[in-house]
Amino acid sequence: MNEAELVRKAVEARARAYAPYSGFSVGAALLSKDGRVFTGCNVENASYGLTVCAERVALFKALSEGAREFVALAVACGEGPCSPCGACRQVLYEFAPDLLLIMADKDGKTWRTARLFELLPHGFGPGDLRK
Ligand code: THU
Repeated sequence: MNEAELVRKAVEARARAYAPYSGFSVGAALLSKDGRVFTGCNVENASYGLTVCAERVALFKALSEGAREFVALAVACGEGPCSPCGACRQVLYEFAPDLLLIMADKDGKTWRTARLFELLPHGFGPGDLRK
């Protein structure tokens, strides 16, 4: 699974977004170490605050299917690439501080990459509880 293929899966997942309040659809595709791909889209709620981002939907789907190790995450959102929000960065950091983030526009035409630890420097993870 290369970057372009994972971006394509994020774009496809974006089409399933439930975002009637913001009108901002996001798709994500998470590649696990064993080669599985778990997709997610943002799921909004009339209460607003209970909205869940596409990235966390993908991650929690993966975790509930037994995956624990992750290689890359593609995200597709607006006219240009966007980065995972702070909450998603923290939740992903728990499992994969060096996760490759592939941040694409809504059509998957362009993207940029970064490692999660670059977007969450000095992140707090499981190891910190043992210090
Ligand atoms: N959203 C995501 O799904 N991922 C992000 O990283 C940023 C924001 C969603 C949440 C909400 O449904 C909409 O985008 C606007 O914030």
